[in-house]
Amino acid sequence: MNTGSKLSHLACLSCGGEYDAHILINYCLHCSQPLVARYNLNNHEKRPVWSEMPRTGMWDWKVYLPVFKTENIFSLGEGMTEVRPLSGWAKSIGLSRPVLMKDESTNPTGSFKARGMSAAVSKAVELGVTHFCTPTAGNAGSALAAYAALAGTRASVFMPKQTPKMFSFDVALMDAEVYTVEGTIRDAGLLMAEKNKEWGAWDVSTLKEPYRLEGKKTMGYELAAQLNYKLPDVIFYPTGGGTGLIGIWKAFKEMQEMGWIDEITTRMVAVQIEGCAPIVKAWQNGAESSEVWDQPDETAANGLRVPKAFGDKLILTTLKESQGFAISVSELEMRSALKAFAVKEGHFVSPEGAACLAAIKKSKAEGKLDESWDIAFIQTGNGYKYAENLWA
Ligand SMILES: Cc1ncc(COP(=O)(O)O)c(C=O)c1O
Repeated sequence: MNTGSKLSHLACLSCGGEYDAHILINYCLHCSQPLVARYNLNNHEKRPVWSEMPRTGMWDWKVYLPVFKTENIFSLGEGMTEVRPLSGWAKSIGLSRPVLMKDESTNPTGSFKARGMSAAVSKAVELGVTHFCTPTAGNAGSALAAYAALAGTRASVFMPKQTPKMFSFDVALMDAEVYTVEGTIRDAGLLMAEKNKEWGAWDVSTLKEPYRLEGKKTMGYELAAQLNYKLPDVIFYPTGGGTGLIGIWKAFKEMQEMGWIDEITTRMVAVQIEGCAPIVKAWQNGAESSEVWDQPDETAANGLRVPKAFGDKLILTTLKESQGFAISVSELEMRSALKAFAVKEGHFVSPEGAACLAAIKKSKAEGKLDESWDIAFIQTGNGYKYAENLWA
């Protein structure tokens, strides 16, 4: 059966190159920048009402996703996560309004990475892929292993040795191959590239193929629908590779193209950890791209230990376009926020989610947040998977 997908082609935002969406292509052949999916959207499209949606998962948005045949959709029920207004912790840091938490920890395999991998694996299988590979800080590996298992395909996952054991455990449980590597996700990517010379597996590294972004963008569609299309004034996003940040912004722009929202007034904020903050450094220097961060510090927020994002230009453009900003927090600020939020709200958030909380607190103290603003953050993963590193 057809999904009704409106996918039309792939585009490079950097050089304007366009590509057929019926062939497998990683990134732009001319300038090696990420490709994004483009859809035939028109402004007569009906805007779904949240309470009337089936809310079965992110594939409720399948018309705006890239898969053409329903039999090629591999889903574990990802998406349609709750948005919760929480006032206890917000009050404790001097905010008069609740903060909105988009709680992605309830996704299959415990993080928002499920959305991206469901879309990427589904589309790649539709185009004939039988072997996937990725470097990972943990969550992307768990998600790839799960969707590859569901699709009956092979998966090879490369992660830093410092990654909590739970991540290599669930990857191995799903019968994906696990390689652990000294260093960072960048070193994991280098080993993978070496191995992949032999394999020719489909590389689903962050933004090195166009479709994980499509899964992640559904966070933006959902958030808008859940808030009856009144977008938050600011969204804090824990930024490693940046797919979610770019994806949410892409969703808002697509919705605007369809006439679902008039003006996009949301400021996007990239949150990083002080010991590895290449985007913050580039933002502060007014640069268009980031430099490789040498010797990143150890952190419990594994997903933020990314020395250089492949999509750095897109992240920085999004911050600029949305009039947002980039901010870093210390390991101690992140850990204190994780603890304070647990005490006030009863949530064990991921260290990356906690980095957003610390960034909200810091931004408030620095006078960057207006009293009247609706403040949202993406709680990207389940804290329980990180227990080992948080104890250390
Ligand atoms: C829980 C969590 N939050 C945030 C991130 C960073 O995500 P992105 O690569 O989309 O910036 C990751 C990446 O591994 C993660 O696992």
